Amino acid sequence: MSAPRIIVTRKLPDAVEARLKRHFTVALNPHDKLFTREKMIAAMQNADGMLVAVGDPLDAEIMQAAGKRRVQILANFGVGTNHIDLEAAEEHGIHITNTPDVLTDATADIALTLMLNVTRRTWMHETRLRRGEWGGFSLIDGLGTSLQGKTLGIIGMGRIGTAVALRAYYGFGMKVVYFNRSKIEVQRIPGAQRMDTIEDLIETSDIISLHCPGGEANRGLFSANRIALMKPTAYLINTARGDIVDEPALVSALLAGKIAGAGLDVFAKEPRVPNALRELENVCLLPHIGSATVETRIAMGMAATANLVAHFAGKPLPNKV
Ligand code: DGY
Repeated sequence: MSAPRIIVTRKLPDAVEARLKRHFTVALNPHDKLFTREKMIAAMQNADGMLVAVGDPLDAEIMQAAGKRRVQILANFGVGTNHIDLEAAEEHGIHITNTPDVLTDATADIALTLMLNVTRRTWMHETRLRRGEWGGFSLIDGLGTSLQGKTLGIIGMGRIGTAVALRAYYGFGMKVVYFNRSKIEVQRIPGAQRMDTIEDLIETSDIISLHCPGGEANRGLFSANRIALMKPTAYLINTARGDIVDEPALVSALLAGKIAGAGLDVFAKEPRVPNALRELENVCLLPHIGSATVETRIAMGMAATANLVAHFAGKPLPNKV
């Protein structure tokens, strides 16, 4: 029997491509060129399985258009699956898997990077220095804000939210409050307090960090009304998904100085970043690099491969969505 045919939509780390080739007949994407909708439909008609990633169009229309010869499994390289219409996948009998756990630490590190960056204004200082605008050591210019003793509000206390809270509490002496849809107890962080509503969390927090899934369920969750509840001294950090935030409302609040700043690794319509944000010194902008370490990307690719291997061996899927 010939090996199942796997189509890969993005260039992967070499070690992952090598592992895939050991198990499957693989069509790779060496030039990392994004699939068009037509190419995606053709791939779904011609593959037994696919290895996909954020940014791939995998909506209901595509699944419908793929017709009868449908792919059996989409193994997502990443934990977030908001680019995949899960309902349509289920309707068409397509299995979906993701890669949780292995990217928790890397993503939490980037949330802390953004927090430190915006509160200590490091991006602003570095930019001024590179431009040759540093006039010498100053006791008063460009002071930031300390994290110690401040309250961090986590929205979505799952794996990554918890990892961020642990770093903030034990590493930086922050207090932690959190909002989570399902009631969970957080044992590992002394004094961590569950808030009954997102509004309570926003009004209490000095820094708010988003860690809930994107997609339909949470689109616009951090709405204009909620942004308006932030303290004028508060910062918003987003390493989850851009569509969770009302991006135009956030831009307006930043432009009007209604909040202290924001650290953003994700945007509503990537790779588009609102022009107004680029001009602001109290904003740190990163190009969706939460999981972008060599170690993490290899681990993610291996996890996605393990899901494909399990599926075609008729075994339970390690990370079924
Ligand atoms: C994730 O895993 O969801 C990252 O954002 C990359 O897709």
